[in-house]
Amino acid sequence: MAHSPENTPRPLTAEPSRALTGHLRVPGDKSISHRSLIFGTLAVGETVITGLLEGDDVLATAEAMRRLGATVTREVDSHGKPVWHVWGVGVGGLKAPEEALDFGNAGTGARLVMGLVAGHPITATFIGDASLSKRPMGRVTTPLALMGATFQAREGTRLPLTLTGAPRTLPITYELPVASAQVKSAVLLAGLNAPGITTVIEPVPTRDHTERMLKAFGATVEIVPHGNKGGLEIRLTGEPELTPCPIIVPGDPSSAAFPVVAALITPGSEIIVEGITLNPHRAGLYTTLIEMGGDIEVMNQREEGGEPVADLRVRSSALKGVIVPPERAPSMIDEYPVLAIAAAFATGDTVMNGIHEMRVKESDRIAATAAGLRHNGVKVHETDDGMTVEGRAGHVDGGGTVTTHMDHRIAMAFLVMGLGAQKPVTVDDAAMIATSFPDFLPLMRRLGATFAGSGQ
Ligand code: S3P
Repeated sequence: MAHSPENTPRPLTAEPSRALTGHLRVPGDKSISHRSLIFGTLAVGETVITGLLEGDDVLATAEAMRRLGATVTREVDSHGKPVWHVWGVGVGGLKAPEEALDFGNAGTGARLVMGLVAGHPITATFIGDASLSKRPMGRVTTPLALMGATFQAREGTRLPLTLTGAPRTLPITYELPVASAQVKSAVLLAGLNAPGITTVIEPVPTRDHTERMLKAFGATVEIVPHGNKGGLEIRLTGEPELTPCPIIVPGDPSSAAFPVVAALITPGSEIIVEGITLNPHRAGLYTTLIEMGGDIEVMNQREEGGEPVADLRVRSSALKGVIVPPERAPSMIDEYPVLAIAAAFATGDTVMNGIHEMRVKESDRIAATAAGLRHNGVKVHETDDGMTVEGRAGHVDGGGTVTTHMDHRIAMAFLVMGLGAQKPVTVDDAAMIATSFPDFLPLMRRLGATFAGSGQ
């Protein structure tokens, strides 16, 4: 079970490692997993999902879909692989849940399902853990209020929050004030049950899994360029009948980031990560690591389930610092903590700007990353919307204990650091890793990593 305030934190230490070697498959993509359950719920009939991420975040969305009227089951096929089935209720067919919808640590689940519920004339209460209850929801409630939903919250627009959808949802045209696929998806999900066209304008493009899935389920979505920064205008025709479509969830590039950086910074390593999506809106970290001199070979590029997929061969490398273009941020926003670890091992400075959004993730990830680096002998200069890491040319001291602030990616990033550092690195609580990458420790151990402590 994931850590909650009542649970005792489970510290874990990563020991300096021998070379990491072998093949691995990381779990299914978290963004696509949430969406597959949500779209399955909105389709009429049975959606079959393979490769679903069975992390706490996604399991919370599965439970929410059940409470909203879908039948969601898990079976194991003849090869021992889990297969999920969702019998949907159709657009407009959700029922009011009898109990609160508990999203645990998951911002994506909470925000997307707010959009889903806002498009229905029902009331639902959204709750989450201490981290989720601190995160801003106004970015979603503002457009959803324009579409007719009403909200009650104890503290501004934070969880716990009760949402009532409008009797007749209004289609709107909404320009995103922050580059957020979650906000885009919430508006589009509400727009599914609005008559006419709902338009979302994104000045800079963000991950497009919602648009891909809308099309795969038979909705009419028109996407046209907007402005001169690569922006897009997404026009969705409301009130479609969505038809189930089998979903194969590809491996998560945000989870693969941890073994990939671990292999780059641990001398003598060579690993192959199989079957991750390299959707261009998700692949920014890999572009950046290759620019830093990372030996990453992209192999077997193919398309699976409507997403570009590839295998990666990664060998340990002497990295050099780079300036990461700020416009790349949306395609790697969750990967900056582990990029900062790669940067600590590089020669020269790595400059990361335009990443203010990192401050409102599962923790303030700029502050948490900078503090963790300093505790392990790495100098970092922090600004409001970025950080610059002074690389240690392969020799990171380690020896520190890092506060993870209930953030899975901070925990995994610093455990990776410990594998390549001179001395072990401890994280104060490894329990939240189960939200996105439940098999992180056994998979890393199979590559040769050593961990010690109660958080195993
Ligand atoms: C996600 C979008 C991103 C990302 C999150 C998952 C999604 O958030 O950080 O982990 O699945 O839509 P924002 O869209 O708020 O940037």
